Amino acid sequence: MPAKMLTMDDLDLGGKRVLLRVDINTPVHPETGRLMERERLEEAAETVKDLGASKVIVASHQGRVGRSDYVSLEPHSRALEEIVQRRVDFVPDIFGPEALSRMDSLPDGGVLVLDNLRFTAEENQEYSAPDAERTWLVSRLSKHVDACVLDAFSTAHRSSPTIVGFAGLVPTCAGRTVERELRMLDRIFSVAKGPYVTVLGGAKVSDRLEAIDALVANNRADKVLLCGVVGLVFLKASGKLRGDVGVEGEQKYVLKARQLIDEDPDRFVLPVDVGIKRDGGRKDADPAQLGTGAQVLDIGPKSVDRYSHYIKGAGTVFMSGPPGAFEWDEFGLGTEGLLRAMASSLGTTIISGGHLSTALRKYGVHDQVDHVSTAGGALVQYLAGKRLPLIDALERAAEKWGKGGA
Ligand code: 3PG
Repeated sequence: MPAKMLTMDDLDLGGKRVLLRVDINTPVHPETGRLMERERLEEAAETVKDLGASKVIVASHQGRVGRSDYVSLEPHSRALEEIVQRRVDFVPDIFGPEALSRMDSLPDGGVLVLDNLRFTAEENQEYSAPDAERTWLVSRLSKHVDACVLDAFSTAHRSSPTIVGFAGLVPTCAGRTVERELRMLDRIFSVAKGPYVTVLGGAKVSDRLEAIDALVANNRADKVLLCGVVGLVFLKASGKLRGDVGVEGEQKYVLKARQLIDEDPDRFVLPVDVGIKRDGGRKDADPAQLGTGAQVLDIGPKSVDRYSHYIKGAGTVFMSGPPGAFEWDEFGLGTEGLLRAMASSLGTTIISGGHLSTALRKYGVHDQVDHVSTAGGALVQYLAGKRLPLIDALERAAEKWGKGGA
């Protein structure tokens, strides 16, 4: 743990009203509304358990405005209750009279989950610390809490008011997730060496393109192996895919991918075969031979061999986003193959994101990689050497509140 931050062991939090900012933003099934994984909830639960003598107010965002995962945190509060095995209450409010009075009447050992912070306009903006302190959201909540525990490592790259606003107003320290992530990453950095290989998959194309920019600019990606939807965007950009990828904003992404390839063609490795859905099963094909409308759901076996070779020869490998739709067994070949290559690599291996963490468990190799983080974008920014607003806030808090300040 970097010395400049306070942890929960440095503040006297027993009997105090503690705002716990976590990141329990979780994939939600678009039709059933069911939470599709629990990794972030399980992490948050560790910190909630360690705050057993406090009055804990859990705050998190969920999804983004306009998307199908932009939902209430009520199901999260029920899942949290199951995991911590103690009563967890939910209030469908954030800083209105109902939320504040429920916070004020919490008993010692009580846990109250506020609703999705992004239901307030302010949480959807990025602010400087002084401006964040002046938001209604932070100024009102801070008057009803004695301390703040920042544990949303996977939101560390966002200057949202609840990430940067509390440190100057109430004693603030790092939670267990932030502590664990930073300790592991510090250790990894002390031994990390090249060549640096990055494997990018999944469907969040804009996040992956940002990741490439950040990692390349900081010499942390000698080779970038592309798969998932972002792999299709690069195939399209290099003229190796007929038809459309079918993602919103495709044209813009394809142009960006084209520019990246033109700048440094040797850095990028693209799938040579893909798994498509055909007659209710799987068929492997050359992407250049696909008919329009083909549903690509995985990389093929030749790509798995090629990518595994790079992964095994790397000094440090970072993987974010699954190569295929591994939820269906017939499209798990790419995800399983590359995770097994990670597990047998002699290099330092870092896996990012809840999806891959779930896949590691599915294939029984969870304990064979060096670090598994539930963070996505924040981890990329950290690996690329960027300053993270949450870490800055914790450092400011340590200067202001010192030991035993709560
Ligand atoms: C994440 O899942 O990366 C974090 O919860 C941040 O979410 P965001 O990218 O919507 O800000």
